[in-house]
Amino acid sequence: MLDAGGQYCHLIARRVRELGVLAEVKHSDVPAAELAGRRGIIISGGPASVYAPGSPTMERGVFELGAAVLGICYGQQLMSHLLGGYVRKGDKGEYGHAVARVDRGSPLFHGLDETQQVWMSHRDQVETPPAGFQTIASTGTCPVAAIGHGAARQYGVQFHPEVVHTPNGQRVIANFVFDICGAVQDWDPRARIASLKEEIRATAAGRNVFFFVSGGVDSSVAYRLCRDALGESRVRGAYVDTGFMREGETEFVRSSLGVDIVDARADFLQALAGVTEPETKRKIIGEMFVTVQDRVLQSGHYLEGDWILGQGTIYPDTIESGGTAKADVIKTHHNRVAGIQKLQEAGRIIEPLTSFYKDEVREVGAELGLAPELLHRHPFPGPGLAIRLLCATQPEAVEAAEGGGWILPVRSVGVQGDERSYRPVLAMEGELSLERATEAINRNARVNRVVGLAASHMPLERMSVRPAFLSAGRLSRLVRADAILRRLSHESGFDQKVWQFPVVVIPVGDALRPDSVVLRPIHSVDGMTASAVLMERSLLDAMASELLEIGGICAVFYDLTHKPPATIEWE
Ligand code: XMP
Repeated sequence: MLDAGGQYCHLIARRVRELGVLAEVKHSDVPAAELAGRRGIIISGGPASVYAPGSPTMERGVFELGAAVLGICYGQQLMSHLLGGYVRKGDKGEYGHAVARVDRGSPLFHGLDETQQVWMSHRDQVETPPAGFQTIASTGTCPVAAIGHGAARQYGVQFHPEVVHTPNGQRVIANFVFDICGAVQDWDPRARIASLKEEIRATAAGRNVFFFVSGGVDSSVAYRLCRDALGESRVRGAYVDTGFMREGETEFVRSSLGVDIVDARADFLQALAGVTEPETKRKIIGEMFVTVQDRVLQSGHYLEGDWILGQGTIYPDTIESGGTAKADVIKTHHNRVAGIQKLQEAGRIIEPLTSFYKDEVREVGAELGLAPELLHRHPFPGPGLAIRLLCATQPEAVEAAEGGGWILPVRSVGVQGDERSYRPVLAMEGELSLERATEAINRNARVNRVVGLAASHMPLERMSVRPAFLSAGRLSRLVRADAILRRLSHESGFDQKVWQFPVVVIPVGDALRPDSVVLRPIHSVDGMTASAVLMERSLLDAMASELLEIGGICAVFYDLTHKPPATIEWE
């Protein structure tokens, strides 16, 4: 898998692996010699134009290795450009669903009907395929939607077979991988467990391993794998309790993994006293993590002698261009222990999961006997509940919005274009509707997020924001609200229908009840984009009535905004 800068690069590699065939991601300009012996090469999409200076490219020699090649989107354009075809700058883009007519005689489209729904996202397109190539698919706006050179086993598609919006995309990938590359189904992460344990024993070389576990899937599986490989007495784990954990979480991690708990609640709360700005909060939390972890490592002498450090780093974390919108943040979390680079160079780091994707880590974990509750948890951010508890420095009243609804004078983070935004929130009364919310947000440029009022102790117009900080009292309100929602969504099965369900507390209310709860259930594939999900009114009413009984809670809001324009988390 050659990465030409596309956000879908890892998705394509995962699709190939789902077929039981190993795929690895390399930068597109990897020397051709390094690819010798591969059965197939896929070139990813990317946002650039082949004519733009500095746009991702690849060695021509890759086409002479004898491996089958498939270029996807930018990959097809790059391939055409390098092999002597002509790529035209499009007059306008083609984004979204399209209907393609495909050549059923081409092995790439074997077994498909002539008319196929496909997903397009491009501006440039191939005008003239290189010599020897046939056009094997077209759409109304894109006459050269796929090309193929049967004898050379080289193909290109302008559309994206890897996304769910191309319903037969996985069949196209399978045709390439099996019929054209001749690959066999021999990739099974579970079958690698024995050799992973061997590698762990070889790297440890008689030394012990120390882990920080987070309660997340990756560090839990890595820790368990090391314990199985080396024996319990040689592997130690610690979990830092920041105080920003969900109810029962610390106990759950302690009992399911058998690690030591480091109680750092007071350190974190103290470091955040009086802080309201989201990025400052995140930075302080990140730095405090480093401080506490260093303290643990120093006091236990875990960085010296017969100790080395274990980490749950997984495949996408190891590749520069991978990851989610929060890749930077997530990366610093992974590497936050001071001097980690040096340890790596000195052979004092053990990372058994660096060749796996998340789903594969889950399969390995299941094979090792880890509890399903641990393996199939919703994602939870490193900074925890601290970024779900909004603060305010100034008192401010709600304000009637133009075109209806009320502006809540709290600000939340959004993502518009590739830019971060930090804007007020629009609150609407009446029926909760995603269509109404989308319409309202398009009309109102002041806001990046829309919530509906689900239930409250008073009318919206009487509510206001008052100064509020990250205090133990407010935190316990959030913990309570989160626990109620987690219980009710589990009992009703709603938690199975969503990818993540953050619960946020905002300083909106009155003197007696100064805070409100926001429900933020979403659907997503990887967190990069997300859609808001509605729940049945009866379930919402049950949730709201319990939430309004929490002391200090004034109202219950429901976040109706997709990502973009809002982010999943409020901060
Ligand atoms: P946003 O809010 O950017 O979140 O739409 C996308 C996904 O990333 C999670 N998230 C984080 N995960 N450390 C993490 O490990 C972080 O600092 C962090 N911030 C956000 C978020 O929960 C969502 O799943």
